[in-house]
Amino acid sequence: MIQMTDVSKNFGQEKVLNQINLTISDNELVVLLGPSGAGKSTLLRCINGLERVSAGSVSVDGKQVTTNKKELRLLRKNIGMIFQQFHLVKRMSVLDNVLCGRLAYTGTLSSIFKRFERRDYELTLHYLEKVGLVDKRNARADELSGGQQQRVAIARSLVQEPKLLLADEPVASLDPKTANSILELLSLIKNEEKLTVVITLHQMDLAKKYGKRIVGLNNGQIVADMAADLISIDELYQLYEDQALISQKQFSMSDQEKVAIHA
Ligand SMILES: Nc1ncnc2c1ncn2[C@@H]1O[C@H](COP(=O)(O)OP(=O)(O)O)[C@@H](O)[C@H]1O
Ligand SMILES: [Mg+2]
Repeated sequence: MIQMTDVSKNFGQEKVLNQINLTISDNELVVLLGPSGAGKSTLLRCINGLERVSAGSVSVDGKQVTTNKKELRLLRKNIGMIFQQFHLVKRMSVLDNVLCGRLAYTGTLSSIFKRFERRDYELTLHYLEKVGLVDKRNARADELSGGQQQRVAIARSLVQEPKLLLADEPVASLDPKTANSILELLSLIKNEEKLTVVITLHQMDLAKKYGKRIVGLNNGQIVADMAADLISIDELYQLYEDQALISQKQFSMSDQEKVAIHA
């Protein structure tokens, strides 16, 4: 479970996150939706300790996200992260890129000498199979299409055997068809691996299609939090186009809607 309590984050004078209160239960698939600059990436980065909150607290599975290096390393072992730009090592093979996800488990010395164990290879092949790329294992990462590279990045995060997967705009660089296939894969993996998944998106149609719960973020504040089934695309558009409707929507959220989120 992720719990954010009264979280604020400033960069200099700019308040990027403003009093965020958010609880995400195990096995949820949450889409964090918002326009560019809303604070989505910053919020995700506060969950795995890449950013330090200015006020408030964040905990994952009951443990406070701290700045202590050893504790952060333990926390991040359980958190997989994927990015818009994939962040693969371009010149390395697909197999080696995925193996890198196991580095959190090998000691520092053995990682320097790349001494992976049999289990590391087994997991790598298992997850490459799962993302449909086992045949490409010897290809160089930069020989693959964008969608394939994102699949490699997903496999790399899964060999880490995380409990939580954070995906920051994972489909922003992909064409619509590929974007859909990647989000379908993430939904499938969430169920099969029993993960908690948080995906940031700026596309409302994709948020509605793949998010079970949508948390709307604007100007560093949560402006909506509801089951995706209970909000229409039109309402989502209004949330971001008409500032007056933002507050109206907040007030008009019924208890039934609030309960439905956790159903
Ligand atoms: N490291 C940083 N230093 C200064 N400002 C930052 C930093 N990271 C993000 N910001 C600012 O915080 C705001 C929110 O950014 P971000 O979390 O990346 O939003 P989003 O992911 O929703 O586009 C933006 O105005 C951005 O310029
Ligand atoms: Mg971002």
